[in-house]
Amino acid sequence: MNEKLPLSIRPIGRARGQRIEINKRWRKALQGIEGFSHIIVLFWLNKARKPEMMIHPKGIQKIPKIGLFATRTPHRPNPIGATVVKLVRRYNNLLYVQGLDAWDGTPILDIKPYTKREAIKSYRIPRWVKPIDQQESDPLRKYAS
Ligand SMILES: C[S@@+](CC[C@H](N)C(=O)[O-])C[C@H]1O[C@@H](n2cnc3c(N)ncnc32)[C@H](O)[C@@H]1O
Repeated sequence: MNEKLPLSIRPIGRARGQRIEINKRWRKALQGIEGFSHIIVLFWLNKARKPEMMIHPKGIQKIPKIGLFATRTPHRPNPIGATVVKLVRRYNNLLYVQGLDAWDGTPILDIKPYTKREAIKSYRIPRWVKPIDQQESDPLRKYAS
């Protein structure tokens, strides 16, 4: 299967630090988003490199290589980032957020409200993830509350 999708994806905005600038033409579509404390941001990891099938998570050599889809590496066949961020406030077409791990200028593809549907209370993660989680200041964890 090597299907090519008839895709023409146009960014709806850009990341500017912890601010998302939505194109003015989509401003009206943001109406009501401020009612949500968190949003899901989908973005295009435009500086990603060619993907490798198997990688050391976070480049940590002592962790054995695993399949790229078992990681959050930005270097993926379709380099789409998906991050839950805290929505601090909206001002017109600007969304002020906390926890966005996209570089300045990263194209934003979509915004969705975070709802109960995404809140999984009981989940399993492999053992190798735990030390990484403890080490880094993962914006998802930092702003999850
Ligand atoms: C590991 S990716 C994960 C993104 C998202 N949380 C996810 O899980 O889909 C996030 C990292 O990619 C890198 N990054 C951010 N913006 C990028 C961009 N536009 N192109 C390539 N890499 C980027 C940064 O090092 C950032 O910490």
